[in-house]
Amino acid sequence: MVIFKKAADLQHFIDTKRAHQSVKLGFVPTMGALHEGHLSLIGASKKQKCLTVCSIFVNPTQFNDPEDFKKYPSTLDADTEALLGAGCDILFIPDILEIYPDGFDAVKSYSFAYLETIFEGAQRPGHFQGVGKVVARLLELVQPQVLFLGQKDAQQCLVIKELIKQMNWEHKTSVSIVPTVRNEQGLALSSRNLRLTEAEQKQALALYQSLQLIKAAKTSNNFEHAKQACIALLHQNNCELEYLALADAASLQPLSDFDTHKDMMAIIAARVGAVRLIDNLFI
Ligand code: PAF
Repeated sequence: MVIFKKAADLQHFIDTKRAHQSVKLGFVPTMGALHEGHLSLIGASKKQKCLTVCSIFVNPTQFNDPEDFKKYPSTLDADTEALLGAGCDILFIPDILEIYPDGFDAVKSYSFAYLETIFEGAQRPGHFQGVGKVVARLLELVQPQVLFLGQKDAQQCLVIKELIKQMNWEHKTSVSIVPTVRNEQGLALSSRNLRLTEAEQKQALALYQSLQLIKAAKTSNNFEHAKQACIALLHQNNCELEYLALADAASLQPLSDFDTHKDMMAIIAARVGAVRLIDNLFI
């Protein structure tokens, strides 16, 4: 695996490879603190025979809570080892000037319409603007043919697809969405799990259990009734619910009740102790 800090060096390396052989570039953007979920994205890229680039950059513009940014785990040595083990070809670790050479405001903003007003968009004002800025910049620097994203961030996947559309890059970069990786008990893997105590990790299982409860209620119950049972379960486990909703799986437009003619998704965000977690499930 080769490691680059400068985009110009990364681009020179890729151009040299391209001069000798046809290269399909797969890109996995991350903020580090890598876990099996990230490594499954690397695995998916390798499976598609892509020359695989992973970036690690903790993007300040997507943190609406400065404390969350400060506390974001940094585990570069372990991340490098894990990427080596997963067969990643190129690690790109740009510094802030490489991504925002002219400051945060100089980067073009994109508008994601209703996606900025629901769920994560509503709870974290400005978050998707920051994601849009950094992903647009990373795409321009890396120029991948395939972008690999995790299903756990379902709304982010839609935002980035919309970004690619607005950049007129649909012919250049396709998006491949990889299923969520869970621990044995069902907790969705997340870099934020590192901040959960052992007791909180157990409590956090109530998020996935709630999603499963909603899935099970699809044919026998109405959504509001199932949601009330989930609220009780989350409360018993000290999880502070932010939202639990049913949505159209393709658009994430909220649904008021089960509609078995539609592909649906249950989506949740809750705080467990000081840690904010999200999850979702196709139902
Ligand atoms: O999902 C993440 O880790 C980040 O939002 C991303 C896509 C790397 C942009 O900073």
